[in-house]
Amino acid sequence: MSEKDRVVVITGAGGGMGSIAAHAFAASGNRLVLADLALDRLEEVAAELRAIHTGAEILTIPLNIADEESVAAAAASVRAWAGRVDVLANIAGTEQSGTAVVDMTTAEWDRVHNINLRGLFFMCRAFVPLMPHHSNAAIVNIASWWGRRAHGLYSAYCTSKAGVIFFTQSLAMELAELGIRVNAVAPGNINTRMLQSVMKKYAQELGMSYEELMAEENSKIPLHKPGEPEDIVDAIEFLSSDRASYITGATLDVNGGVALT
Ligand SMILES: NC(=O)c1ccc[n+]([C@@H]2O[C@H](COP(=O)([O-])OP(=O)(O)OC[C@H]3O[C@@H](n4cnc5c(N)ncnc54)[C@H](O)[C@@H]3O)[C@@H](O)[C@H]2O)c1
Repeated sequence: MSEKDRVVVITGAGGGMGSIAAHAFAASGNRLVLADLALDRLEEVAAELRAIHTGAEILTIPLNIADEESVAAAAASVRAWAGRVDVLANIAGTEQSGTAVVDMTTAEWDRVHNINLRGLFFMCRAFVPLMPHHSNAAIVNIASWWGRRAHGLYSAYCTSKAGVIFFTQSLAMELAELGIRVNAVAPGNINTRMLQSVMKKYAQELGMSYEELMAEENSKIPLHKPGEPEDIVDAIEFLSSDRASYITGATLDVNGGVALT
């Protein structure tokens, strides 16, 4: 399968990283399935792409990855539209507001885990049967450096993302025999709506301005700046390409060195 004609499924396609991933995979001529809970943003991204790449084959799907039936319906739509999936980029995810374990509601714990980890399980369970064997089909999951290094007040988010890393490894072992690779990318602080929203709330709690907090956060990163969504998308493209054909079960850190500090 040429890297041009692949069927690429992107969840979170309306978000910061997902929309840039959609642009990148469209630019290399792939057929795209764009899925997100946020329909308005999803349609905006699809319209941008159709304007730039006339004739591009794009299917947009409203999807809640935390809902089994929604995921099953999405998989059925993709089967009917394309008959197969070559790349599954599981980018959709949610943040958590800073809360001590003793104050966290069960509903908040479940909300974060249902999207970040259970949702990933639902997606892989439903879409792996659509992936061809021994054709360099690949899954790329988005973890976080917070799944590598724990942070107080963010236990639900950190454990969900640590789970993504181990889920990636388990699935890689299961699918290796079928020639399907499974890897993850663990982003550091990446300049998207999610980072801005988490940091704005955090700055408020600390009684600082958002700019002051970001300056402090950036000073802790060896490369002294947040990453851009393009940095993560480059890693996703690499891990799903033929150049990564001997890589499976890996989690690629893309974080400016912050996890070393
Ligand atoms: N931005 C960062 O600093 C950062 C750092 C580490 C990891 N991440 C991870 O990167 C991924 C992308 O984040 P982003 O920064 O682009 O954030 P974002 O908020 O811009 O995008 C996330 C997208 O996921 C979608 N989504 C949320 N819940 C969903 C659900 N139940 N079903 C379907 N879609 C859903 C949202 O609608 C949104 O479009 C997430 O998994 C996030 O946890 C982000």
